[in-house]
Amino acid sequence: MLQYSYGNEEYFVSFFGDLFKKNKTDAIYEIKSPNGRVVVTFILDRGQISYFVKKDERLVLRQSRLGIALKDSSPLADGFSVVRAYSKSFDETWKAYWGEQHIIRNNYNETAIYLEEVDKPNRLLTMRFRAYDDGIAFRYEIPAQPEMKNMVIADELTEFAVDVNSRSWSIPAYQPDRYEYSYTEKPVSQLTDSVHTPLTIDVGATYVSIHEAALYNYGGMTLKMNGAALKADITPLSDGMRAYVELPFSTPWRTIIMGHDDLDLTSSRMILNLNDPPRDDFSWVEPTKFLGIWWAMYVGEWTWAPGERHGATTEHAMQYIDACKNLGIPGLLIEGWNDGWEGDWLENGEHNKFMESTPDFDMKIVSDYGRANGVEIIGHHETVGFIDNYEKQMEEAYRFYKDHGVRYIKSGYAGSKMTINGRREFHHSQLGVLHYQKALELAAKYGIMLDVHEPIKGTGIERTWPNLMTREGARGQEYEGGALSPSHACYLPFTRLLAGGMDYTPGILDVSNFSKRMATTITRQLAYYVTIYSSMQMAADRPQIYETSYPDLFEFIRDVPLRWERSIPLVGEIGKCFVVARQEWDGSNWYVGGVTNEEGRKIELYIDFLEPGVNYIAKIYRDSEDAHYRDHQLGYVIEEKLIRNGDHIEMYMAPGGGFAMKLKKQ
Ligand code: NOJ
Ligand code: CA
Repeated sequence: MLQYSYGNEEYFVSFFGDLFKKNKTDAIYEIKSPNGRVVVTFILDRGQISYFVKKDERLVLRQSRLGIALKDSSPLADGFSVVRAYSKSFDETWKAYWGEQHIIRNNYNETAIYLEEVDKPNRLLTMRFRAYDDGIAFRYEIPAQPEMKNMVIADELTEFAVDVNSRSWSIPAYQPDRYEYSYTEKPVSQLTDSVHTPLTIDVGATYVSIHEAALYNYGGMTLKMNGAALKADITPLSDGMRAYVELPFSTPWRTIIMGHDDLDLTSSRMILNLNDPPRDDFSWVEPTKFLGIWWAMYVGEWTWAPGERHGATTEHAMQYIDACKNLGIPGLLIEGWNDGWEGDWLENGEHNKFMESTPDFDMKIVSDYGRANGVEIIGHHETVGFIDNYEKQMEEAYRFYKDHGVRYIKSGYAGSKMTINGRREFHHSQLGVLHYQKALELAAKYGIMLDVHEPIKGTGIERTWPNLMTREGARGQEYEGGALSPSHACYLPFTRLLAGGMDYTPGILDVSNFSKRMATTITRQLAYYVTIYSSMQMAADRPQIYETSYPDLFEFIRDVPLRWERSIPLVGEIGKCFVVARQEWDGSNWYVGGVTNEEGRKIELYIDFLEPGVNYIAKIYRDSEDAHYRDHQLGYVIEEKLIRNGDHIEMYMAPGGGFAMKLKKQ
């Protein structure tokens, strides 16, 4: 940025040639995206900081407040003057270790505005803004400074002033089941109780997803109406404060992804791009598929707790290892093998022991047997949120698994709150965030990959920590049998999945089981492997269902890849349907998956992503015309077709149904 002085007034010529007046306490900076269509404007108006956002000349967010309120002093929100500002352009292309897209372009324009309070104690604050073609981001950076060594953050004043009449889709925050709720549509004006991010909003001609990136050492952001605007509500600690930090400190990025429609949001990689590249070599991370001593507990055949119907016995584990080998599934999750599941495990988790097994289970025999048969054990740590108890054992428990050749751990944080330092804290509070991070970094040290259930929300940190393979963090299939409607999986791609992959535990083919009836058709269970990204995917049903009942459908589950060269959303509308095509990582085959809500629908697919002039054999797994999630879940058809680039195909999805397709180069 060039700077000119006239008398005591200064002018800046921004990176893009616009001229802005600058005197001490008034300034405007426009940060434009590389294609110029997305613009975020920072305003310093008589010392007060705010911003607004435009796309294609239309206001997306009107002028919105910025600032941080502190416990022991006045807020960092006004009384500022500009010290200087720097702009830069950035354009890099990086390779992911796994994900929905292998090669990702990170292209943005950035301006950092260095502010200083006019009056004593002359505190410093830097506002850093980035404009991407698919959205904007900003964060607060509080530098080390003479008058302030640390801060107790009482509130974050950030507003997102969208039109309050806009439709929005969200799940409630601060509820006992954390992120595990069904989505509801409401005008923004009715978000008077806090909701989680990503929050999706149709602001008219543009869809936005408000979220955050790189959440470290701070409470997770929720949002709620405050007067006339939507405002950040940072998850508080038990004493009501939002965060205790030492300087220098940067907040997570506040992010607004923008798409021309809801489907367009799903292509954004902005959240990952706002995270740093890994500091170490993570080439040891490896996506995997796994069976589990798991669903048998949900349908009531076995139990987590020891007893006559105990699931995690040495004998069952060895049978499941044989099944993995037969089915070509490389991993086996074992839940319920350790001490802590007796009685009401949700209440008793305080005394869980992560290395002591029940008398009928022998980790050495099981892991040796797994190794001999080429099957890896996926370990399990159910903490029940008793962090004090877990952290005392965590390192040793990781080492225990490592000593048994276990490289993957599914962790769990069931319970409505966490116990940390003897106090009850939200999972999404600063102390919760710090725990999840500690667990992740320690796992990396031991070469362990994590699948976190009841996690902290995804904010793209898996770019920096690629051993964070996947997380749950939404209502998943464990809620079937009553609490899931077919629309749920049609909301996820436009909401929760914008924050990263999810372990939805797909592949339940025993859809009409009397004790856990699924609100899906059977082929839709295959579609999930394509529509819900996860670098660790479970084949969640019991092995006999795959071996004996549906070997024809299982073939798809076995073959579907766990990471993709690229992903192209084809059709979709929030809450109604979603269809996506994904190309095999380093390969030429394509997979397409689609899901619909309670309504059956015929969709037109324009196949324009295949290699031109080449024949592809499409193996299609679809609902029969008379299939229905309520009374004819098992109506399915498997067929093969020759498909070439440029073809149009019609695909039918039954109510609560879906389809999966593999396109193999001939
Ligand atoms: C909830 C998790 O989501 C589920 O997968 C797990 O089996 C139970 N907690 C027990 O840990
Ligand atoms: Ca869960």
